[in-house]
Amino acid sequence: MSLDGRRFVPVVVIDDAGLAEPVAEALLAGGIGCAEITLRTPAGIDAIAALRDLDGFAVGAGTVLTPDDVDRVVDAGARFVVSPGLAEDVVDRARTHGVDVVPGVATATEVQRAVRLGLDRLKLFPAGQLGGLGMITALAGPFPGVRFLPSGGVTETNAADYLASKHVFAVSGSWMVTRELIAARDFAAIARLSRAAVDAVGP
Ligand code: 3PG
Repeated sequence: MSLDGRRFVPVVVIDDAGLAEPVAEALLAGGIGCAEITLRTPAGIDAIAALRDLDGFAVGAGTVLTPDDVDRVVDAGARFVVSPGLAEDVVDRARTHGVDVVPGVATATEVQRAVRLGLDRLKLFPAGQLGGLGMITALAGPFPGVRFLPSGGVTETNAADYLASKHVFAVSGSWMVTRELIAARDFAAIARLSRAAVDAVGP
């Protein structure tokens, strides 16, 4: 999948699609080659489209809630789809398009539903509020074949702990690319925070 080998999935909330490319270049400069552009802002779709052909960068879409959203983001060039929750019709539509899909789960019931859909990589959201690594370890007991993408409350101080777990394939978060940093056009800070995250985890 296009998230194979990724350790960080930045969550980008962007208000100006014209800033998508410098943001992605800053992430790349920091050693991070992907991002989830959320549909929380009207600029989200255009930002995805702006990154579809960026060399070495896998652009994905986040806050994808409906099959129509899946159609729109795939049309714009998204290579993976992330949702805050688990919706079977979103999973089905992503599969129809042949793009990777990582829905969110927050309970054992939802993990069980996702496993029955054939999924083995799931976003845990909101990870911090759900108990963080303790929740992941508990869920891994009955679901040893699942690996998680914790999102929500992941920070520069706890990312490495999450990533040390064999039940975590990558972490997701906005700390290295906050809406405020983007609005301030502080691309140097985005690159620096990205590099710090990558360096803390090792190759
Ligand atoms: C989100 O919903 O914005 C993501 O889960 C990222 O959360 P964060 O801002 O706590 O990193």
